[in-house]
Amino acid sequence: MSLEGKAFLITGAGSGIGAATAVRAAAGGARVAVLGRRESALTRTMTAIHDGGAGEAIMVPADLTDPVDVDRAAAVTLKEFGGLDGLVNNAGIGRFAPIGEADCKDLQYMFDLHVRGPVQLIQRFVPSLRERRGSIVNVTSVAGDLAAPGRSFYGATKAAINHLTRSLARELAPGIRVNAILPGPVDTPIYDKVAGSPEELDRLRADMIALTPLGRFGRPEEIAEWICQLLDDAGRWVTGALLPIDGGRCA
Ligand SMILES: NC(=O)c1ccc[n+]([C@@H]2O[C@H](COP(=O)([O-])OP(=O)(O)OC[C@H]3O[C@@H](n4cnc5c(N)ncnc54)[C@H](OP(=O)(O)O)[C@@H]3O)[C@@H](O)[C@H]2O)c1
Repeated sequence: MSLEGKAFLITGAGSGIGAATAVRAAAGGARVAVLGRRESALTRTMTAIHDGGAGEAIMVPADLTDPVDVDRAAAVTLKEFGGLDGLVNNAGIGRFAPIGEADCKDLQYMFDLHVRGPVQLIQRFVPSLRERRGSIVNVTSVAGDLAAPGRSFYGATKAAINHLTRSLARELAPGIRVNAILPGPVDTPIYDKVAGSPEELDRLRADMIALTPLGRFGRPEEIAEWICQLLDDAGRWVTGALLPIDGGRCA
């Protein structure tokens, strides 16, 4: 891979898929800006990067639902790196509920986090990404494609960013490539808050495994590898793709 010396901003990089992507990209020699709200989590990722002995990393604590924070994070990244080669819009949360019990504030929050924040970052970085023939990777979800009871708000926000991915791939070509990775179930801390009780979480996990032909949860590193392929020159003829990395969930 030709990640050497390239500059990337990865959101939600304090845990799960984002952390694995930051570590993988840095191991390939990239300079990575790791963004998230909790400095303690970002520090863990920075330590893993330093332990890997390659690349370079800066920490950009920010809340993506706060436009002022997003502008500041973009400005810090551009100042530190002098430009950007790749943006990974990965931060996300899962707030699931049947429609009768769902709170519209959750819809608004997930829209801000999964769509508005990423759009604001894209707008800030377009000039630099265009100059460097860069790549945008949006980490969305199979839930943006598949309908599932109790996930309508989450799925709607992921469908929105999927659509945006395809629209922007056309609009920003040929200078900038825009793709989405649609993970199936992946073992990450995102599940810590989605179930009410440990028994409920066990049931949810069992249901998800039953729906996955390859019969298990994915690992964050198995998603990170594909994100890095799309950041890398290996993906130079790929844009507008919505790529399910999901153990066959969408098959
Ligand atoms: N795991 C799965 O099964 C799965 C399946 C399909 C799609 N996905 C998607 O994959 C992406 C990564 O999730 P993950 O599974 O790796 O979960 P995760 O470990 O919980 O990572 C999500 C990250 O997003 C950050 N984040 C949350 N709210 C934020 C905010 N307001 N501002 C900035 N950062 C924020 C969190 O850090 P802070 O709390 O420190 O801010 C956290 O590090 C998400 O978009 C998720 O929807 C995951």
